[in-house]
Amino acid sequence: MAHYAVRESPPLRGEIPISTSKNAVLPIMCGALLTREDVRIENPPNLTDVSTLSSLLEACGCRVRRETGALILTASGFKNPQDEEDVRKMRASVLVLGPLLARLHEARIPLPGGCAIGQRPIDQHLKGMSALGAKVHFDHGGVTLCGRLRGATIYLDMPSVGATENLLMAATLAEGTTRIENAAKEPEIVDLAAFLSSMGARISGAGTSTIVIEGVSSLHGTTWQPIADRIEAGTMACACAITGGELMLRGARADHLRSLLFKLSEAGVHIHDTPGGLMVLGRAKQPFEIRTMVYPGFPTDLQAPMMAVACKTPGTSVFLETIFENRFMHAAELSRLGAHIRVENRVAVVEGTPYLTGAPVTATDLRAGAALILAGLCAEGETLVNDADGHITRGYERIEEKLAGVGGLVRRVCMP
Ligand code: EPZ
Repeated sequence: MAHYAVRESPPLRGEIPISTSKNAVLPIMCGALLTREDVRIENPPNLTDVSTLSSLLEACGCRVRRETGALILTASGFKNPQDEEDVRKMRASVLVLGPLLARLHEARIPLPGGCAIGQRPIDQHLKGMSALGAKVHFDHGGVTLCGRLRGATIYLDMPSVGATENLLMAATLAEGTTRIENAAKEPEIVDLAAFLSSMGARISGAGTSTIVIEGVSSLHGTTWQPIADRIEAGTMACACAITGGELMLRGARADHLRSLLFKLSEAGVHIHDTPGGLMVLGRAKQPFEIRTMVYPGFPTDLQAPMMAVACKTPGTSVFLETIFENRFMHAAELSRLGAHIRVENRVAVVEGTPYLTGAPVTATDLRAGAALILAGLCAEGETLVNDADGHITRGYERIEEKLAGVGGLVRRVCMP
């Protein structure tokens, strides 16, 4: 895998093209299992998570063709994934559950192990599938669901993104009407619902707490351009807030990032929404307080990049992580660069310092790795971000090239 060698950089200036959203593409790829016809996904990001899921879908008998600027999936005949290891590799692969159950009336997946940021259970997914009429059986570290799905009213105990996506997909082919209450409202949910509707699904309320799905007998193929990656865009906005530059984030949508944009404005960063994307100007000058929440609250995926911003912002910034139980591991790594961070359970207090110094650090998860690269941009000397586990390339397409293209001194060093 790779490491990233980062050196203290001048203010970043220029334009960064924002890729298609990883967290929109992954459920949409699973949604392709709901039809026998071709599904063409335009401009998929070149990420290991996309290739990992492609392999899993192929293991389910779905044909996956990669063309320039497109991914074409055809699930004319398919089956449950035989090699459960493929499913365990990536949390998002739990999203094959709904489509498999909807089309095959049987699905088996391994219970996902936890990951660095938390236990990541799937109880809400299973509760909803059971409400739709599936019989659930646990054995040998996996779960098997079977049964013809019938519409039902489902109340989610918490607005889980993945559970909402899984149940939304399952309900499109269930007999009758399904209501998902306390549903997640993220932009990726809205995009998935629009994609499914372009296949003939009958969905209303996506983006609100209550989604209603009228089941249909079958879905047809489609061509879809998923939304831009709001987390990549937010990460690059944080890079600008750290170096004090001027960046045009081509394709970024302000309406998907309002909580971050308000926080950066509070910190003294100027943001202009333009037809072509987001202009971000200047560095953070005032401290801020962040409480991660479900959408439209502040996204947990931008907590780590904003902590990198806080490390050099004068004053005391406070973070409360309410979504995942263990998502401050980057604090210890940032402290190796000289940051002053105190962590107590789900609260982190950051005293901004004018001076960070480069050191070897380790990416503990996808967003933590990006935060360490950002911090290296304003640390004297060289910061070597060890990404032996490949976290960063899971979710950021060519991050080193995109930052280097606007003056960031970042290069990817492949290790034996
Ligand atoms: C999605 O994960 C994203 N992943 C995550 O992004 C993101 O951090 C998360 O939503 C929250 O916004 C993808 O879209 C592929 P959840 P997901 O179900 O669906 C608990 C990244 O960096 N929970 O909303 O797994 C769970 O443990 C990744 O791109 C249950 O208890 O998130 C967590 O504490 C990281 N039971 C909270 O809810 C369940 O059945 C939020 O989980 C499901 C979830």
